[in-house]
Amino acid sequence: MGAMKGRDLLSLADLTTEELRELLHLAAALKAGALKPKCEKILGLLFYKASTRTRVSFSAAMYQLGGQVLDLNPNVTQVGRGEPLSDTARVLDRYLDILAIRTFDQRDLEAFANYATIPIINALTDLEHPCQVLADLQTMQESFSALDGLTLAYMGDGNNMAHSLMLGCAMAGVNVRVASPPDYRPSEAVVQKAQAIANGKTEVIVTTDPIAAIKGAQVVYTDVWASMGQEAMAETRIPIFQPYQVSEVLMSHADQDAIVLHCLPAHRGEEITEAVMEGSQSRVWDQAENRMHAQKALLVSLLGIV
Ligand code: CP
Ligand code: NVA
Repeated sequence: MGAMKGRDLLSLADLTTEELRELLHLAAALKAGALKPKCEKILGLLFYKASTRTRVSFSAAMYQLGGQVLDLNPNVTQVGRGEPLSDTARVLDRYLDILAIRTFDQRDLEAFANYATIPIINALTDLEHPCQVLADLQTMQESFSALDGLTLAYMGDGNNMAHSLMLGCAMAGVNVRVASPPDYRPSEAVVQKAQAIANGKTEVIVTTDPIAAIKGAQVVYTDVWASMGQEAMAETRIPIFQPYQVSEVLMSHADQDAIVLHCLPAHRGEEITEAVMEGSQSRVWDQAENRMHAQKALLVSLLGIV
């Protein structure tokens, strides 16, 4: 893992397939307690959007490593008053060892990374959510003997989750089918990137047909229909996305041993029904727990502790 020391994780595609495999292996070892790395480093969290899981799992992981965490809420720092990003980045670089940023525009994250020498982690942007997919793949690995050859069906908005899942699945040898309403497809650039990574070895398919996508899938994934920043569109989207709701009826088309994942927070009765969310196929709580293990693996790799 030494090759990851000092690097950024702005997109899942920043990792090689081998590095992704090693990170998942490390995450499993950390979860099992087979490895107890220690550090005295400082992690900064600069979040321009709300967060429960990402904020707390990063913090818990860092405290378990023996490090410290600084929550750099924009409301109480000068970034909220318009201090240029380039200045903030160069200053935080002098105090912190590693920084996770949650923001809107991927270009702001990239700009930050250009000005800072410490590792910068994408803790969610409108384009991607790579840390979530590390935990998702870990959860899939726990449920099935191997990732290779599985099929994941993603139902709903072609958003940051759809993007990182397409990239992560393509890298991990998992077939990925995204079913979205016509005007809510994932970015064509990301689809092409995922297809280039898959290189014809696995499927990367985008369709408007939820049943075609879910047919025989071993992993069914969904996310909110209106992401953070899109709240004003939430009501209008409900009827458009209804055919993509992960319900018991839709689940009857998936593999009978399929698991259900959701990055959370969930809107029961919209993208997922209460019965599926709380049903025997749901792995959402393990998935949420794995955020902590997967991100601990990421922290120690980028900090060069293992
Ligand atoms: N899944 C996820 O990133 O959750 P939070 O928004 O609570 O961090
Ligand atoms: N797509 C959602 C994910 C939340 C973890 C959002 O960006 O709000």
